[in-house]
Amino acid sequence: MRHLLSIADLSYVDALSILDTAQEMARVSDAPVKKLPTLRGRTIVNLFLEDSTRTRISFEAAAKRLSADVINFSAKGSSVSKGESLKDTAQTLQAMGADAVIIRHPASGAAQWLADSAWMSGSVINAGDGTHEHPTQALLDAFTIRKHLSANSGDLRGLSVAIVGDILHSRVARSNVLLLSMLGAQVIIVAPPTLLPVGVESWPAQVSYDFDSVLPLVDAVMMLRVQQERMSDYFFPTPREYSHYFGLNRDRLGFMKKTAIVMHPGPMNRGLEITAECADSARSVIVEQVTNGVSVRMAVLYLLLAGSPTSPGVAI
Ligand code: NCD
Repeated sequence: MRHLLSIADLSYVDALSILDTAQEMARVSDAPVKKLPTLRGRTIVNLFLEDSTRTRISFEAAAKRLSADVINFSAKGSSVSKGESLKDTAQTLQAMGADAVIIRHPASGAAQWLADSAWMSGSVINAGDGTHEHPTQALLDAFTIRKHLSANSGDLRGLSVAIVGDILHSRVARSNVLLLSMLGAQVIIVAPPTLLPVGVESWPAQVSYDFDSVLPLVDAVMMLRVQQERMSDYFFPTPREYSHYFGLNRDRLGFMKKTAIVMHPGPMNRGLEITAECADSARSVIVEQVTNGVSVRMAVLYLLLAGSPTSPGVAI
């Protein structure tokens, strides 16, 4: 595999091998010296043309822990703000010898476009393209669910996961539905009808409008951010009404299974889709998701880059 653009690029075996490799990488992250020489001499470009905190820093930490050279590139402060096209920007990166480009872009399909372009010889990793996909987020979510809830570190068979909120604008939801269902979990999408995409019936997931009836059934509740920046219209009457029907609060925490975990990819709108109390509760694994993200991205970079012919061939 050369690129990671969508969860659909992965087979069941690929997905499990990323999770298993990430488990090994987590040991590096726990060690006093958090570094492996594996990607020494390789250049990785973080091309972030849409705002990001967690994902960008996480990829940077992952690449550095594998000893790669990292170039960070964002729209602000670059010629992109002068109107330079993605093609010209990417050609420039290629001319600098990038072995991999990690791209976040506001347009769905941007990562695929970059990977398909004839002049891009390195690997392309999709770090979120519009409302389409965010595969490494789904992988870190699956890793987190497996770590907490799967007894045998295999797949996610027997587990149920609710994905709740702004499904329409969420690339995290799209990637997670594909990955979690591929790994055997039952996925239930919970949202108001206005925040569901056309064609959701064909997704490998059930759909419910009734959060309270779903809560006692699931092992993980994944709350999504209400993506106001992508909303050109009113999708719900008031924030208060949204929280009332679809927000996670103390009462709802009480309806969950005792062992169930609370997740959120961040950034959170505290007080809208999740109360501060729930976000900071003992059931919340939100901060741990960020930690796991580094291990999962190390695994993805390692598997995509370390085996290729120009690598120095240092095995872990
Ligand atoms: C998500 C994203 O950017 O798609 N965040 C993330 O990567 N951690 C979700 C979001 O923006 O709500």
